[in-house]
Amino acid sequence: APPNPEQVIRQQNTNLQAFAREIIAAATPTPEELAAQNQHLKRCRAICQRICPEGELVPFGSLVTGFAITKSDLDAVLTSPYPEDLFSTLDKSGESNSLPHNLAKEFQSEGFEVTLLLMTRVPIMKLALKATDESSFDLSCDIGFNNELGVHNTRMLQTYSRCDPRVKEMVLFVKWWAKKRRINSPYRGTLSSYGYVLMIIHFLINVVDPPVLINLQNTPIPEDVPPDQIFDEDGEGEHQIWYAKDIENLPKTSNQMHIGQLLRNFFEYYSYRFQWGREVISIRTQGGIFSKQEKDWIAAVTRPGRSGHSQVKDRYLFAIEDPFETSHNVGRTCNAVGVDRIRAEFKRAVNIIRFRDGGRSMRELLCLE
Ligand code: CTP
Ligand code: MG
Repeated sequence: APPNPEQVIRQQNTNLQAFAREIIAAATPTPEELAAQNQHLKRCRAICQRICPEGELVPFGSLVTGFAITKSDLDAVLTSPYPEDLFSTLDKSGESNSLPHNLAKEFQSEGFEVTLLLMTRVPIMKLALKATDESSFDLSCDIGFNNELGVHNTRMLQTYSRCDPRVKEMVLFVKWWAKKRRINSPYRGTLSSYGYVLMIIHFLINVVDPPVLINLQNTPIPEDVPPDQIFDEDGEGEHQIWYAKDIENLPKTSNQMHIGQLLRNFFEYYSYRFQWGREVISIRTQGGIFSKQEKDWIAAVTRPGRSGHSQVKDRYLFAIEDPFETSHNVGRTCNAVGVDRIRAEFKRAVNIIRFRDGGRSMRELLCLE
């Protein structure tokens, strides 16, 4: 007898699970690579120290969350107890004696390739270093200035990752897929890795049934939490940064799905249920969804950027609310072509998962035709 539809689906999911395990193993950086990244970070820290002794270079992003895939960039932020100093130097960034320029010169003299991006939403210094005898791994590092929210949201992602091992597995697979399919280029009209992580967390809290994750921002704040752990001030205003950290005391999930089932449901949700034109992903919110109308995220607007002289264009074609900086659309990097490509990729993935069977054809998920 031909297999019944349920058996077919089960078989497809099992194939996807096996394929995902293989990809996750290949995507995970080796201990040597991670050690080299930490070595690079130490060296960058020492160089920053010379130019800005009162500052501290704090890592964030995938090296901290554990969401790094092999050859990931290193993200770090230079913080200082005197934020105004940093910003006032940034305001006159046309002058060559500003902090970023001085840092750039110092890194150049140490053999780094340096690019200053002062027109971006937050100023960024991009560093690159080719592998040498000292380290057999290339370095690619982004240093930001006084963007401490990145440090906070990194810690929350890390906490979500600790809640269930499937979080990291999904992130590694989806990042690898997005990279292979070339829809992970925020500078070229598509979405950042951070955006994909928020899509996954929304799915694991609000979509999959039963949920894999509990909403850590939507639990009551204990009375003994000091105010500075609830709110954070920065150049753009006050943000609520509190989330539950004592995950040992939270109820455990009853969801038993394997990674193949979860990935299939993830691709199906963003192909056929999520309403890209109308909805906003908001992981801090009960239910995880706002309408664009509710947030007034409708028409694109142009506003001055943080570094004073730059212009920032806010688009809402794909809307993902940052969990702390709630006025910020993490999907703003997506242009019309980019959103269409991302949506087409989700559907393509579903078609491959649904209609092919052997483990070999799952490979098409990641191939460029
Ligand atoms: N981030 C942010 N707002 C954005 C994009 C990024 O606050 N719009 C911060 C987040 O803290 C995120 C970090 O920057 O964890 C790094 O973002 P990104 O490089 O996109 O993610 P990674 O997990 O580091 O992925 P990759 O390995 O591709 O670098
Ligand atoms: Mg990164």
